[in-house]
Amino acid sequence: MWLLLACAGDVADSGLVEDPICAEAPVTTWDNFGSGFVVQNCQTCHASTSDNRLGAPEEVVFDTKEDVWEHADRVLARSVVEADMPPQGGVTEEDRERLDIWLTCADEGT
Ligand code: HEC
Repeated sequence: MWLLLACAGDVADSGLVEDPICAEAPVTTWDNFGSGFVVQNCQTCHASTSDNRLGAPEEVVFDTKEDVWEHADRVLARSVVEADMPPQGGVTEEDRERLDIWLTCADEGT
């Protein structure tokens, strides 16, 4: 039992356990995807400078990649799993998949 636990810990620590979607995924980051995605789909309501947030919570702001990473779990929940953000829809399946790849596979904060 000890050995098993030790091994599992080692593997997890070395980053060898990967989500299956990451295996053949294109390298996806804020710079090559996230920034454009958030500007186009989220910032009308979620930018700090938005003059009409249409009810988007004051504390859920997506101005920078740090903002998105801070809420990464919720972004995945609402824009990939439940897929009800943005409320007006219009995001392609391909972009939702790319968002999933970015926030699941990229090093946190990139
Ligand atoms: C048309 C305005 C609008 C746009 C565009 C929009 N949102 Fe929202 N968002 C809201 C409103 C209103 C709420 C609060 C009500 C709710 O949670 O459904 C909210 C809440 C949230 C929350 C916090 C609630 C939670 O479940 O944790 C997250 C995270 C979120 N939105 C993510 C996004 C993402 C990611 C995008 C872009 C892909 C986006 N939103 C685009 C209006 C918007």
